[in-house]
Amino acid sequence: MNIILLGSGRVATQLGQALHKAGASFLQVYSRTQDHAAKLAAKLNCESISDSSKLRLDADLYILSVTDDALPALAQQLSLKDRLVVHTSGSTPMSVLEPASNKIGVFYPLQTFSHEKEVDFSVIPLIIESNNPESLILLKDFAAKLSTKVLELDSAQRLILHVAAVFACNFSNHMYAIAQELLATRQLDFDLIRPLIAETAAKVHFNLPIEVQTGPAIRNDKLTIQKHLDSLKDQPQLQEIYRLLSQSIVNLR
Ligand SMILES: NC(=O)c1ccc[n+]([C@@H]2O[C@H](COP(=O)([O-])OP(=O)(O)OC[C@H]3O[C@@H](n4cnc5c(N)ncnc54)[C@H](OP(=O)(O)O)[C@@H]3O)[C@@H](O)[C@H]2O)c1
Repeated sequence: MNIILLGSGRVATQLGQALHKAGASFLQVYSRTQDHAAKLAAKLNCESISDSSKLRLDADLYILSVTDDALPALAQQLSLKDRLVVHTSGSTPMSVLEPASNKIGVFYPLQTFSHEKEVDFSVIPLIIESNNPESLILLKDFAAKLSTKVLELDSAQRLILHVAAVFACNFSNHMYAIAQELLATRQLDFDLIRPLIAETAAKVHFNLPIEVQTGPAIRNDKLTIQKHLDSLKDQPQLQEIYRLLSQSIVNLR
């Protein structure tokens, strides 16, 4: 299958490299910034472009992996008739691609990606969708070359999946960042808390999170909660976050 990748960020890089390893062939990498397109194209052994009018029209699959906000304008620029065009966004409806082609779809990898860190795609859930039955089969087969977990969801289901992913991943990581800042105020090293983070994540491999919740809120230790809030008196925003999360823990109990 001949692929053209539009975008050269975290997902485009990791997905492109994984597909390349799996034997897919790339015709072009398009990106807004020519240097970024060139860097990824070199890895995928194909041409790089930053002018969408130079896009080849003969690829079997066009993967748009740009920021969510850039998708509508990019789709408007494309005129790919009946070529299969997909995006990799968790929260963007498939319909955003309607201006680009008659055959559209979604290829959303449910994972957190970085520029440099390679990931094992075989365990990443790949969420697919298409407006065309043949394209859906093609996407299913294509996804199965990368992962053992291929799932067909509609755009509304995928949106909720993405909201859940933001809570589980992005917000958890932000909690780690808050912990890091708090530790730094008393010259304490973040390393101290790494085993706790690792054990918390390890537990949910085999348990439901609600079953393994610990801490003052689930124990209803009101004096401890008050002490914590007092210690944050100079940081009203953190106090508010602490209050909201403690209440949420109580509500789910
Ligand atoms: N990161 C994740 O963990 C993750 C996971 C699953 C799905 N996704 C989805 O995958 C897609 C790409 O995310 P990402 O994290 O890979 O993004 P990213 O690393 O921030 O890269 C963004 C890409 O979008 C391009 N871009 C930004 N603004 C643009 C504009 N106004 N017009 C055209 N192109 C523009 C950039 O081009 P230049 O570099 O050339 O400027 C770059 O190639 C998003 O839909 C995201 O929701 C992300």
